[in-house]
Amino acid sequence: MSESSSHPTLRTSRLLLRPWREADLPAFAALNADPIVMEHFPSVLDRALSDSLAARIQAHFDRHGFGLWAVELPEVADFIGFVGLAVPSFTAHFTPCVEVGWRLARRYWGAGYATEGARAALDFGFARAGLAEIVSFTVPDNHRSLAVMERLGMTHDSREDFEHPALPEGHRLRRHLLYRMARPLSA
Ligand SMILES: CC(C)(COP(=O)(O)OP(=O)(O)OC[C@H]1O[C@@H](n2cnc3c(N)ncnc32)[C@H](O)[C@@H]1OP(=O)(O)O)[C@@H](O)C(=O)NCCC(=O)NCCS
Repeated sequence: MSESSSHPTLRTSRLLLRPWREADLPAFAALNADPIVMEHFPSVLDRALSDSLAARIQAHFDRHGFGLWAVELPEVADFIGFVGLAVPSFTAHFTPCVEVGWRLARRYWGAGYATEGARAALDFGFARAGLAEIVSFTVPDNHRSLAVMERLGMTHDSREDFEHPALPEGHRLRRHLLYRMARPLSA
């Protein structure tokens, strides 16, 4: 993975959202292999799949100028997961769109890091990328992720819940809830 200095870096009071580095890959593979972290995804990822996801994230930054940032806790941990913005590759009633998303190693849950990083990503999306709206979505059982969306002030209308088109009919993870946030007047 080549480091690209053209990818933006965001700072919050506790976090650095920065471009990915080769050195992030082992820690990223470890969290992608954790069945608790991946409980609401179809499967855990092995090292090869984890590395290819990181490469796709890097390519997304190249293409869009934003993406799922590598999250660092300065002085504490070089890499705790990702938080950021992504353009979904599937088609649904709300696409094309930009989503805000997060995935952290389990030991860093329960500290507010996902919400803090997501606020910075939303600010970037609205104020710097000029987006009019950002969405988020997950399965109804992913209470931690839904709680992040609620804390961010995103809104949910159950009439917009949808079946994820990348999963087959009857799959336990097919049903998704959609949350939306419009650009605030201040951005
Ligand atoms: C989704 C995920 C990122 C949420 O992590 P999280 O730690 O629950 O969320 P936050 O970082 O916002 O932290 C909130 C918690 O930290 C607590 N907290 C502690 N210190 C805090 C602080 N200074 N500021 C804010 N919250 C703080 C909050 O009270 C809250 O605790 P609670 O969960 O007991 O209510 C995490 O569960 C995860 O990585 N899951 C696996 C991947 C995944 O499912 N991603 C989403 C796919 S759509």
